[in-house]
Amino acid sequence: MDKIRPVIPLVPVHVSPADRAARAFLATGEISLSALPPLSLYVHFPWCVKKCPYCDFNSHEAQGAIPEHEYLDALNADLEAVLPLIWGRRVHTVFIGGGTPSLLSAAGLERLLADVRARVNLEADAEITLEANPGTVEAKRFRTYRDAGVNRLSLGVQSLNDRHLRALGRIHDATEARAALAIAASTFENFNVDLMYALPGQTLEEAEADLRGVLGFSPPHLSLYHLTIEPNTVFAKFPPGIPDDELALDMQERLLAILAGEGLMRYEISAFARHKRKARHNLNYWHFGDYLGIGAGAHSKISFAHRIVRQTRPRQPKTYLERAAVGASLFDETEVSSGQLPFEFFLNALRLVEGVPSSQFSERLGLPLSVVADALQRARQKGLLANDPLRLRATALGLDFLNDLQALFLPSDDAPQ
Ligand SMILES: C[S@@+](CC[C@H](N)C(=O)[O-])C[C@H]1O[C@@H](n2cnc3c(N)ncnc32)[C@H](O)[C@@H]1O
Ligand code: SF4
Repeated sequence: MDKIRPVIPLVPVHVSPADRAARAFLATGEISLSALPPLSLYVHFPWCVKKCPYCDFNSHEAQGAIPEHEYLDALNADLEAVLPLIWGRRVHTVFIGGGTPSLLSAAGLERLLADVRARVNLEADAEITLEANPGTVEAKRFRTYRDAGVNRLSLGVQSLNDRHLRALGRIHDATEARAALAIAASTFENFNVDLMYALPGQTLEEAEADLRGVLGFSPPHLSLYHLTIEPNTVFAKFPPGIPDDELALDMQERLLAILAGEGLMRYEISAFARHKRKARHNLNYWHFGDYLGIGAGAHSKISFAHRIVRQTRPRQPKTYLERAAVGASLFDETEVSSGQLPFEFFLNALRLVEGVPSSQFSERLGLPLSVVADALQRARQKGLLANDPLRLRATALGLDFLNDLQALFLPSDDAPQ
C-alpha cells in the first residue's frame, strides 16, 4: 500500500464547498462515467475507553469526558460542507464506526441520526449499522439505539475466553461478551459479530470453542479475522507469542468448515452471512461504490462524470474539532489518477468470493477493461483469477494468495511481472 502514488491535488482544501463542487462537476477529467454508483455514509467516532494493543484504527483513549456535543456539531458542519458534492443522490446505507460509537449517549445517537436525515436523502429501508464494544453495552441503551433507527448492530466480541481477552487488552470479559451477545440477539433482527483467531497462546480447540460459543447466539453475520500484528501498535513493539503459520492455517480451515455447516456462507474473504444478511454497507465498498466519510480521520470516495475524488479528514479528534468548527474539516482532497483506479477497483472486488460482473469495471471506473488486459492474462496464467469472461473473480488459490493477485493490478511501474 505504501507504494501508491494516486494523487492529483484537486483544489486547495480552504476553497469554499460551492467552488469545490463547481470544479468537481465541471472541469474536464481523465475518465467518463455513464452513471454514478450507489452512495453510502460512514460516520467515525474516534474514542475508546482504552486503546487495545493490537489496534491500528483511528481510535484514541478518552481522557476524561468525551466532548459529545462539540463532536456532533463538528459532524454536522462536516456533512453540510460536503453536501454540494452529492446533491440529488440517495444514501443507501449508514455505518457508525470507530473507535467505540456505543460510548455515544442515546440522546447523542438520536441527534446524530436526526441531523443526517435532515441533510441527506436517506432511503426508507437504509441499512443503519452501529459498532458496539461489549464493555459499553447495556440492554436499555441498545433498545434506544434501535428506536432511533439503528437496524443493525456490529458487536466486537473478539473471543469468549477470559485468558485471551486479557491478552488482547479488552475492557470486557467473556461473561460480559455473552451478555452483550444475548442483548444483541434479542434486540436486533440483524447483527454482526467480530471474532478474531490466532490469538496469543491460542490452541486449535480454543479457537473452535470461541466460534461454537458465538454460533450459540445464531448471528446473522460474522466477521472472522486472523489477528495481524500491525506496525505502530503495542503488539508490534512487544510481540506476543502467537500461533505459527501452520497452526493459524489449521485454525482457519477448521473454522471455515464449521461455518459452512452452520449456514453462514463465506461471501468475502473475512465475512460470512446467512441468507439476505450480507452487509450492504461493506458490499458497497467492495463493489467500488461511493461513500461519504465524516468524522476524525474519515475518508470519502465521490464519483463525478469525469473524475473520482478522495477526501481525508484530520485524524486527531482535537484538530478535527478545531477545523470543523471553522468549516474546514478537510485535510486533503485529491483526484485519483486513471492509472491508479484499476488497482483500487481490484483491491476491493477480488475480496468477494463471487467476484463482480466484468461490466462493473467500466461502469465504476469509466475506463475500458482492456486497460488491464495484460494483468488479467497474467492473473489467469498463474491460476489466481477464474477463466470466466463474464466475472472478475479470484480462484480458491487466488483467495489464499489475495495480496499477490491484487498486486498484479498495481500501476505498471510498480506491478510484479
Ligand atoms: C474498527 S474495529 C472496532 C470495533 C470495536 N471498537 C471493538 O473493538 O469492539 C473492527 C474490528 O476489526 C478487528 N481488528 C482490529 N484490529 C485487528 C487486528 N490487528 N487483526 C485482526 N483484526 C483486527 C476486530 O475484530 C474489530 O472488532
Ligand atoms: S475498542 Fe476497538 S477501536 Fe477501540 S482500540 Fe480496541 S479494537 Fe480498536
